[in-house]
Amino acid sequence: MAKDGKVKIGIIGSQFEADIHAAAIQMGPQEAEVVAIASPTQGNAAALAKRYGIPRVFTDYREMLKESDIEMVTIAAPNSLHAQMTADCAQAGKHVVCEKPLAMTIEEGQHMVEVTKKHGVLLMYAEELFFTPKYLKAKEMADAGAFGKVYLVKQSEKHFGPHSPWFWDVNRSGGGALMDLGCHGIAFCYWFLGRPAIKSVYCQMGTYVHGDKTKAEDDSLCILEFANGAVGLIENSWARRGGMDDRLEVYGEQGVTYANLHMGNALPTYSENGYGYAVEKAPTTTGWSYPVFEELWNYGFPQEMTHFARCARGKETPRVTGEDGLVVLEAIYAGYASAGEGRKIGLPFRAQGVKKPIDLWLNSSSYQTNR
Ligand SMILES: NC(=O)c1ccc[n+]([C@@H]2O[C@H](COP(=O)([O-])OP(=O)(O)OC[C@H]3O[C@@H](n4cnc5c(N)ncnc54)[C@H](O)[C@@H]3O)[C@@H](O)[C@H]2O)c1
Repeated sequence: MAKDGKVKIGIIGSQFEADIHAAAIQMGPQEAEVVAIASPTQGNAAALAKRYGIPRVFTDYREMLKESDIEMVTIAAPNSLHAQMTADCAQAGKHVVCEKPLAMTIEEGQHMVEVTKKHGVLLMYAEELFFTPKYLKAKEMADAGAFGKVYLVKQSEKHFGPHSPWFWDVNRSGGGALMDLGCHGIAFCYWFLGRPAIKSVYCQMGTYVHGDKTKAEDDSLCILEFANGAVGLIENSWARRGGMDDRLEVYGEQGVTYANLHMGNALPTYSENGYGYAVEKAPTTTGWSYPVFEELWNYGFPQEMTHFARCARGKETPRVTGEDGLVVLEAIYAGYASAGEGRKIGLPFRAQGVKKPIDLWLNSSSYQTNR
């Protein structure tokens, strides 16, 4: 396997996040190149390959894994497939970059960590908030003591719901807004505070506007208590109108900082005619809108992919790993259990045989009586 030159990457998936991976890798051209794409939807895969000049296209990712020059594979497929795909990549000797959330269950996540270790490959967890420049600036200031002891970190991500049908199907996604978006906020607060253990989780959630198409919660409030005494408050929504909203607030004994990922960088714009694209999930570009520039860079995707490629060559140590993804999954389990039982749940928390985290909410007896 080549150890110099660019890291050769294969992408699994060909739609939303796969496109971001391909674009992000191209934005850091000195470290890596995408040489193959694998997705069962041949038309989408071919279109993505054409858009980014990717030479090889596969309909079965297992065929792509036979390509001996591929060193790293990024997984941008539905959550229910992450575990099997990771195991197959590891067995083929490929480093893995897996999209969030890590897996459907803690057992799957543990297996992903074990199987990658066994085969001597890296399992890197694609949590881009660890690379988002504006949020990194907040962490840099916090670590330098700007706010004194930080007692509260709030992170929220909200929009009007996912772009692809499988997200609404809890058997393929594992859950709603908490699973899909809360995984970002939980990971972020944990990392921001220096990875203290999570002591407890309290969650309130409901299905307010999308009950016609999903059993999943479309809004959730999640409070984490950390072993260092700090609190994380994570708000997520699939019910929020008006496009993507992503924010951070940090409160310390000696200071505070606020970061609005999109608005601070946006161009307040009014247009009678509309125009091409404003920001992820924006419903319209007519009237008032808030287009962002360099959207992928502002999220940190190119920085993330460059870092992972450098990790594959041993030039850097992964900033975010499968173990981080597992911590997040355990908190998500506790979050659904908390919402189901209407009480704070202490960690460590394990629920054996759970098929998907949201079952801890949907199947709880208090959920049934309160509904
Ligand atoms: N980091 C982020 O901010 C972010 C944003 C969006 C999605 N994601 C994550 O990325 C993953 C993919 O989400 P998406 O939005 O791209 O979904 P999507 O529906 O847009 O794309 C899913 C892709 O998976 C492919 N796929 C389905 N079954 C497959 C199989 N058996 N083998 C290979 N490919 C298969 C589909 O063909 C499709 O190309 C999810 O885990 C999601 O949570 C992360």
